[in-house]
Amino acid sequence: MLVDTHCHILPGIDDGSPDIATSTKMLEMERKQGVEKIMLTPHFYLSHESLDKFLDKRARAIEKFAPVADQLGIEAKYGAEVLYTKSLADIDLSKLCIGDTGYMLIELPYQRLTSGFINEFRSFAGGLSPDIRLILAHAERYLNYTDEDSIYEIMNTDMLVQLNCGDFKMFSKHSGFMYDLLRHDLAHLLGTDAHNTSSRPPDMNIAEKAISKKISPRCFQKLNHNAEKVFDGRAV
Ligand SMILES: [Fe+2]
Repeated sequence: MLVDTHCHILPGIDDGSPDIATSTKMLEMERKQGVEKIMLTPHFYLSHESLDKFLDKRARAIEKFAPVADQLGIEAKYGAEVLYTKSLADIDLSKLCIGDTGYMLIELPYQRLTSGFINEFRSFAGGLSPDIRLILAHAERYLNYTDEDSIYEIMNTDMLVQLNCGDFKMFSKHSGFMYDLLRHDLAHLLGTDAHNTSSRPPDMNIAEKAISKKISPRCFQKLNHNAEKVFDGRAV
């Protein structure tokens, strides 16, 4: 049984699934790949909308989505992929954690991560309630904007680190970095970050095959075991 820690399958809430028909297809794709537990993490941008407005919108999407997930035998927990901004420190972040856990998925801005930004982020992370633990979304994607060292520095903030399954596909420009993280036990979770059924589909099996071959089946199992712990709100 596999666990997806990051996806945009909730319908009509962000740039992911536009409607319940697409969400149903995406859930069926997940199920075929052996995924039975999913953390639904729609984008939350505090600069665009208030926390209450986002939670209302998410509640309406869940009403449509939950019965379908149930029917397909998929256990769901609802959170968000929260874009970092300094003013996050002023809102109740427990409402953005995944289900009843203290884990919150955070995404960094797509820019060069300067030492000024890294210091600011460190002070934000250090000031969080001890009940909240951050998960850095798709650590490899920031390589398009910044250097490896700056990502390593950000990761030094006692966060869990999530990688995107699709970035393990053959000839991926980020795979060297991702395998290095896995070999040094610096990445902890996999997520599909699925947005649709075509260009960004649920693709857990790409990561399963690539990691099992390049590192070991055991490494993949450990990542999945960590995801189960996060889903249950246990410590990783
Ligand atoms: Fe995402």
